[in-house]
Amino acid sequence: MLRPPAAAAPFRRRGTLSYLHFMCAAILCATTIFVAAQIASPKAQINDPALDARIDAVLRQMTLEEKVGQLVQYSAGQPTGPGTGRSDYEEMIGRGQIGSLFNVVDPHQINTYQHIAMEKARLHIPILFGLDVIHGFRTEFPIPLALASTWDPSIVEKAAHAAAQEASAFGIRWTFHPMVDIARDARWGRMAEGAGEDPFLGSAMAVAYVHGYQGSRLDAPGSIAACAKHYVGYGAAEAGRDYNTTEISEHTLREYYLPPFHAAEQAGVASFMSAFNSLNSVPASANPFTLKQVLRKEWRFTGLVVSDWNAVGELIPQGVAADGATAARKAFVGGVDMDMVSSLYHDHLQNLVGSRQVPMNEIDDAVRHVLRVKFALGLFDHPFVDEAAAPKALYSPESLAVAQAAAERSFVLLRNANGPDGKPVLPLSAGVQNIVVIGPLAEDSSYPNGVPEGTGPRTSLTTELTKRLGAEHVSHFKGSGILDGTSEEMAAAVAGAQKADVVILALGETQDMSGEAASRAHLGLPGKQQELLESVVHTGKPVVLILFSGRPLTLPWAFENVPAVLAAWFPGIAGGPALTRTLFGDVNPSGRLVVSWPRSVGQEPLYYNALNTGRPPGDIDLTKPPSDIEARYVSRYIDEQNTPQFPFGYGASYTTFSYGSTTINTTKVKAADLNKNLHARTTAMTAEADVKNTGSRPGEEVVQLYIRLQGTSTAQPVRALKGFQTITLAAGETKHVKFELSPEAFAIWNDHNQFAAEPAKLDVWISPDSAHGTPAQAEILP
Ligand code: NOJ
Repeated sequence: MLRPPAAAAPFRRRGTLSYLHFMCAAILCATTIFVAAQIASPKAQINDPALDARIDAVLRQMTLEEKVGQLVQYSAGQPTGPGTGRSDYEEMIGRGQIGSLFNVVDPHQINTYQHIAMEKARLHIPILFGLDVIHGFRTEFPIPLALASTWDPSIVEKAAHAAAQEASAFGIRWTFHPMVDIARDARWGRMAEGAGEDPFLGSAMAVAYVHGYQGSRLDAPGSIAACAKHYVGYGAAEAGRDYNTTEISEHTLREYYLPPFHAAEQAGVASFMSAFNSLNSVPASANPFTLKQVLRKEWRFTGLVVSDWNAVGELIPQGVAADGATAARKAFVGGVDMDMVSSLYHDHLQNLVGSRQVPMNEIDDAVRHVLRVKFALGLFDHPFVDEAAAPKALYSPESLAVAQAAAERSFVLLRNANGPDGKPVLPLSAGVQNIVVIGPLAEDSSYPNGVPEGTGPRTSLTTELTKRLGAEHVSHFKGSGILDGTSEEMAAAVAGAQKADVVILALGETQDMSGEAASRAHLGLPGKQQELLESVVHTGKPVVLILFSGRPLTLPWAFENVPAVLAAWFPGIAGGPALTRTLFGDVNPSGRLVVSWPRSVGQEPLYYNALNTGRPPGDIDLTKPPSDIEARYVSRYIDEQNTPQFPFGYGASYTTFSYGSTTINTTKVKAADLNKNLHARTTAMTAEADVKNTGSRPGEEVVQLYIRLQGTSTAQPVRALKGFQTITLAAGETKHVKFELSPEAFAIWNDHNQFAAEPAKLDVWISPDSAHGTPAQAEILP
């Protein structure tokens, strides 16, 4: 039996029943994923049998050249570079030789192309315009890693919806997002674009994005088609080097890498993008196992599959095609419908059909996938965009409010030790007289927003602090650049710090140090920033370090010596106000890590849901080099601890929380019963705990549920997230939190290559992160 891995327990927000029900209805229950599979309108629309007649009516009239044209996509704007294809787009559209264009963002240009497609081309098939709308179109939201750090699918959905509204107003009806790649290695720059290392959380975020972009109907105003990318395993790039080879067993694919894609598919995602990486020696863009067996046969996906940028052409350097014709054939029969920019489908598919190397019925199927999405989007009926209205869709107050709320929820407080006055450095006191802001990222509103300087109402951290306190109370020193800096700049900053009541240091990466083609072998602060940090801390003044980055940075010195550290990621257009409100405690940080934060690069890849070894270190003190045989011959480093600096799920708050013990409603469940109901939305077990706010201010806590299975036919991780809920607690308040685990939560990819529950010893934790808590214990009997 092949069945999909899927999220198994509720992902919920806030603790009231009615709100839970509302949120579940709004997609936040794992169970809702299954409902979505049946009723979500975009999915139903794509699969609507009524479309078949319209598709077939078009298909019947198409020549082979026109069919191949639907499978061809070019980048008609920036960026240019290898693989950008050609420039005679207008002529090609007129001949029906192009199905999709991307990187065109001018609505007038979009209409111009569309008029050619609809009026000059023989069959009047609209062009599908795409773009990488990744964390907003013009209103920039926090980067996806930050959005995931909210652990709040509802805000992610809102951000995606706002992005879709802006992009669609410009005629862009397809985003190449969400990126649902599991990322376990912070060297890989594209960790910034996804939801981190966990398949359960990644699935929740995938669903939220799909619903946000696609709305209730793909043809509704403001909806755009989403694209689950990069299918699949791209995030496992060896050594964290982008585009690198991946080796992933089927077991690991099924249990970790595929679930977020499957969740996106079940939520009705209109398209998939095949990845750049070789997967077990077969490139993901010519991989019949993942693209045909899993995606089409097992999941019954009927939308369209586009290759990544020139991924068809890259089959040649990857070593599975000696020439362009073979690359086109292998990608196409491997399951890629549409060729992004390589032009090899355009150049070779007709001949390949003529020579019977590519079957005509497969061409028809691929064209059907493309037309299906175009019909579902309503493009045949409404192909043009209202050029005059487009700018009015930008920066709406609602979108800006979502951007600010998302940023405020995304910050992860890593450390908040006491300052000289014996109190935690954060939040800052309202009456602070002299704030000195230092760092290359404090005044430049472009870097913190994660995009180059552009239009829109954005302000920097320094500007916002000045607005709040008055210019006489805030001063700024650059201190250094990101990569460079002079001794004069640094000396001025240190002298400035001497006069401060509190120093805010804004350090980190430039935006282009993460994302595509931005792998790093060193994960410390670039340039002279570490020196700047140490010099400022040595003044003895209380220091708050705000880290801007697209990944965790290895900063052991900072985590020992800087009292307060806040991971701000790249917070988007509202980063300035959101940070200011957080510094002053108007907002209590509630973000939690979605990636394990390494102590050193040598620990990577580092992830919490790892398998145990035969030689776990147990109680051995790993802070010291091994001093005897017992301490040495275990799975460890001789010069570093195994544990992360901060575990997955971790995040501090201006208040503190304590957890009561985890209780479960039964200590024995039967595997046979679980398997009978594996697809049912029933509850196999409940787990409960009290959570108390033990501090003196209100706060939000992300309560997490993990399980461990031991004794199974395939080894299972030391912990696996199966549920989460965010609760708000007043000072001193206790709330009782309850999780319902469905049978599916206990299913594993077993040694018969099936998902099934098996007899096992079971641990269940309700805990604040992936490293703490005491589990309740149970047994799964045969
Ligand atoms: C290459 C990237 O890998 C992919 O994520 C993106 O969607 C395409 N370029 C198009 O820009």
